[in-house]
Amino acid sequence: MFNKEVYVGRREELKKLVSDGVIVLFGNNEAPNNYPNNAYYPFRQDSSFLYYFGQKRDGLVGVIDVESCKETLIGDDIDIEDIVWYGSVDSVADMAAQVGVGSSAPMAQLKVIIDEAVAKGRKVHFLPPYRHDTMIQIMDLMGIHPSKQREAASLELIMAVVKMRSVKTPLEIEELERASVIGYKMHTTAMKLIKPGVTEKYIAGQINGIAQSYGSQVSFGTIFSQHGEIMHGNPSMAPLEAGRLVLCDCGGETIEHYCSDNTRTMPVSGKYTQRQLDIYSIVEDCHDLVLGIAKPGVKYFDVHMAVCRLMTERLKELGLMKGDVDEAVAAGAHAMFLPHGLGHMMGMDVHDMEGLGQIYVGFDEETRPNLEQFGTNALRMGRRLQEGFVVTDEPGIYFIPDLIDEWRATGHCAEFLNFDMLETYKDFGGIRLEDDVLITADGCRFLGKDIIPYHPKDVEAFMADN
Ligand code: GLY
Ligand code: MN
Repeated sequence: MFNKEVYVGRREELKKLVSDGVIVLFGNNEAPNNYPNNAYYPFRQDSSFLYYFGQKRDGLVGVIDVESCKETLIGDDIDIEDIVWYGSVDSVADMAAQVGVGSSAPMAQLKVIIDEAVAKGRKVHFLPPYRHDTMIQIMDLMGIHPSKQREAASLELIMAVVKMRSVKTPLEIEELERASVIGYKMHTTAMKLIKPGVTEKYIAGQINGIAQSYGSQVSFGTIFSQHGEIMHGNPSMAPLEAGRLVLCDCGGETIEHYCSDNTRTMPVSGKYTQRQLDIYSIVEDCHDLVLGIAKPGVKYFDVHMAVCRLMTERLKELGLMKGDVDEAVAAGAHAMFLPHGLGHMMGMDVHDMEGLGQIYVGFDEETRPNLEQFGTNALRMGRRLQEGFVVTDEPGIYFIPDLIDEWRATGHCAEFLNFDMLETYKDFGGIRLEDDVLITADGCRFLGKDIIPYHPKDVEAFMADN
């Protein structure tokens, strides 16, 4: 936990951004895995609750009365049964004091507070819930059916939270740097373990353990697969095969729940083939292009488009694409290779604040998403960058056999694609490179004191030495 002034300051700021009413921030509850007493471990608190109330225990709700400024941490103290099985924890009153909250109350009081606000015609602000137990809680408290809760959530509160959480303070950047150290250990361990015959699942399990050893947990389910063409491919029991590529996309979360998210693509045999290098060097140059253009005031949508143009130019040189580069990109032909966006916000959530609504996090009135075009519709972050934003830079080139077949059959973007050559790449897999970018006063830099090797010579040298 940060010191209490951090949380007091954040709630003060939030009260200035929300005009009136009562703000209710739901913490998470334990989530059973296969029976009630076997919950998913480790417990993960809701990020917005953590941001304003700092406490990591399950079963808590934070209430802020915007007009009276009264703040209450709501939750039931644990009983002797819980103490016997899980050990003692601080009382809710102590937890409130630790984060500078003036009062605490048992859970039953929450309905009283909300009923009183509703009776007076005051607004009750809550964020869009994403867990079903929270949805039931909201239904019990306010009578709003889960199917209506996203639209009933407070836009004013969403916008206030997005505004605050988007800009990372120096304290948060330190935490993100710590998360990068965990990510570095995860990735370099994977690189050391890659050998023909070792299973994907074994390596993923080893690096997941690193995330738990040095921090709280993985920042998302580790992607470790020789099928790099599957965007979020789960590690399987398949043994690694010499000659293939293996894609590793993973990150860790610090004890304070700040994330890292990196991707590397390695040759199982320790050396890339020329065919792999031809594609790899395009992804590498697209990845590095971002460092030269991302800075405050620039739209991330335009950075994404610059990457798409460079990728198209280079794929044209290889013979996989053809025609006019600008026309190909305008038609979305590059999405055959890059069906996702260049990146997303990152912070306490690896896709930061995605649960609040991507439209509010990655876009604004000036920069609207293009929801019509395949590929471009998967861009999670398009708006103008500001100092303190942290975004991912994650271009990739994938050869997805089903997508090749589908576009060939329908003739989609046929004037820009060399389908005969694409056929010969159906066994290639996919390459992605990803680093986390901090927007600085006049430019940007990668997070992480040590950058995980990604230039082919560095990857090969690292794999040969370890
Ligand atoms: N690294 C996983 C993702 O960004 O979706
Ligand atoms: Mn990512």
